[in-house]
Amino acid sequence: MRRQKEFNLARYLITGAAGFIGRSIAAALLARGESVRGVDSLITGKRENLTGLEAMEFLQGDLADPVTCQKACAGVEIVFHEAALASVPRSVADPIGTNVNCVDATLNLLVAARDAGVRRVVYAGSSSAYGDTPTLPKREDMVPKPISPYAVAKLAGEHYMQAFARVYGLETVVLRYFNVFGPYQDPSSHYSGVLAIFCRKMLAGEQPTIYGDGEQSRDFTFIENVVEGNLLAATAPAEKASGKVMNLATGSRITLNQVFQLLCELTGYRGKPAYAAERAGDIRDSLADISRARELLGYTPRVDFREGLQRTVDWYRAAGA
Ligand code: UD1
Repeated sequence: MRRQKEFNLARYLITGAAGFIGRSIAAALLARGESVRGVDSLITGKRENLTGLEAMEFLQGDLADPVTCQKACAGVEIVFHEAALASVPRSVADPIGTNVNCVDATLNLLVAARDAGVRRVVYAGSSSAYGDTPTLPKREDMVPKPISPYAVAKLAGEHYMQAFARVYGLETVVLRYFNVFGPYQDPSSHYSGVLAIFCRKMLAGEQPTIYGDGEQSRDFTFIENVVEGNLLAATAPAEKASGKVMNLATGSRITLNQVFQLLCELTGYRGKPAYAAERAGDIRDSLADISRARELLGYTPRVDFREGLQRTVDWYRAAGA
């Protein structure tokens, strides 16, 4: 605390702080009375997500610019790197944009973090790194097989994290997120996560579209579990967690057809879904083994899928999204 008062510097930096996951981590840190700086380019982040986070110092800027990274990292001890263009189809449409905003941005951030004497960077990895291999659940010791430009970009970021831990002694922790959902997730783009899109549409009485036969499955993870995993990753002993990659999920999965049924119950929607062609770059099934995060971080998911979905529907209903 003394350090912050003397230098008026933030102890924590959150990249992508105006995005769904970044703003949720920021809210949790601020609630604990921590000093927090957020940076966001507002390419996909939204200024309105900063409402309620007024105690956070906010820097608008793009991590593709090294100077922004330097300003963002100055005086910081711990970074949560959530900024990305988080979409498989977006990366299929614009692989270079995804590379700039995921790979270049991550490398710039790591260099700035190293130079600023940051102690630890916690990285938002992605389950997409596993690709479309049939073996379930996904374990971190499996060979990655990314099949979309997005998955390649997020995996490249993981490798940079591990290299910086090894070569420069920067503590880095990679959390591979599995389909995160919850309040504040943007439902308005066709690149949005499926649950955000379905909640918004079904609450408005509009027909959702299922790509493929709806039998694909995901380990959908409620945002509060992800925030908890990040806070644990920030404090876990370096000998256990630094340089490691671990899944952050619930360890259970559900198909899109089942999700649709559940959402009919929760939203009161009475129609049927439309079915359309399977999306390019899509994977069939995704399920995490979460024993490594349990062992290294003491992580255990607290909110199960149904409760998370109920809370998410309630939030979209109240927000009138
Ligand atoms: C992938 C990654 C995830 C990453 C996310 C970022 C995997 C397993 N997961 O998620 O780690 O964080 O990208 O976006 O690779 N769908 C519909 N109708 C819609 C929208 C989507 O049926 O209106 C389907 C998709 O075709 C897909 C599923 O829902 O089969 C989930 O899609 P989405 O929410 O975009 O996430 P993933 O692509 O699984």
